[in-house]
Amino acid sequence: MQEQILEILYANDGKYVLLEEITSLLNINEKELKENIESLKEKGYDFNSSPEVGIQLVESPNLILPYEVKRGLETDYIGQNIHYFSEIDSTNNVAKKLAEEGAPEGTIIIAETQTRGRGRRGKQWISPAGGVWMSIILRPQIPPSEAPQLTLMTGVAVAKAIKNKFGLDVGIKWPNDILIGSRKVCGILTEANAKFSTIDYVVVGIGIDANVNTENFPSDVQKSVTSLKKELNEDIMGPELVQEFLKIFEDTYNEFKEGNFPEILGEWRRMSKTIGSRVEVRKQLGKIVRGEAVGITNEGALILELDNGNLRKVISGECLHI
Ligand code: BTN
Repeated sequence: MQEQILEILYANDGKYVLLEEITSLLNINEKELKENIESLKEKGYDFNSSPEVGIQLVESPNLILPYEVKRGLETDYIGQNIHYFSEIDSTNNVAKKLAEEGAPEGTIIIAETQTRGRGRRGKQWISPAGGVWMSIILRPQIPPSEAPQLTLMTGVAVAKAIKNKFGLDVGIKWPNDILIGSRKVCGILTEANAKFSTIDYVVVGIGIDANVNTENFPSDVQKSVTSLKKELNEDIMGPELVQEFLKIFEDTYNEFKEGNFPEILGEWRRMSKTIGSRVEVRKQLGKIVRGEAVGITNEGALILELDNGNLRKVISGECLHI
């Protein structure tokens, strides 16, 4: 009902609408209408109203509310089914549960804040208000070994969305960090669930520091991160960023399903800040590999040229540009 009320007010382009007009269009009484308006006010919508001229929408909250995302969403299936939380432990946790229960491909889970956001390698992911914390459920028919390709594909989609929308100098650090300059603005955590030799579902978790105040981050983290707000010196509109990303993500994922991963990897290479850099990759058990990053394989492994000239494939690890 609230969405229908908003639809009427948005359709009138900020002009006043008589209450009787809304009640008759929606077949509700005035008391119900006023109750719904009050709930919308609690979500951050602001209205002007007077008995003579009716009601006018003057401000919408800059929150990633499902209605605001769906209003300008141009996708066929990615993001058409949205689960929204103002606070949740981790959107990836909810996504996994919903996927187990049979949620369709393209379902997304979005939260304004996460209390136990998870990063790669078991790290905590700080998720205050202002960020875009989102997970997408996918059901690709691929062997589990190809799941890392989805992380690379998602990195390309996020980088393109930020570049298109804000014209910032966006790059990708292997395997999945989105950078502006040399600072991280987005991380991706892909979690796959396989039954026998095929994937049952994949949850792709995306964390974008959109309107986040990074000054509140711990001082060691502050040095290496940024936010869109910090780069642009103004708040960005969360729903617009999500719409742009979901459209690019759907197009890229459709390409992926059609077998065009090599082309996507080509885009990854062009946007990569890792290829051509000297890097240090910290692997498990304290092992460190250093060299120049010279390429990436179709499986997403980084190819390093070691100081002795040998080539070495690195499948996973934490990568530092040195
Ligand atoms: C990383 O770079 O370490 C990956 C960070 C991934 C964070 C996102 S935020 C939405 C989703 N939910 C989580 O708990 N993590 C991912």
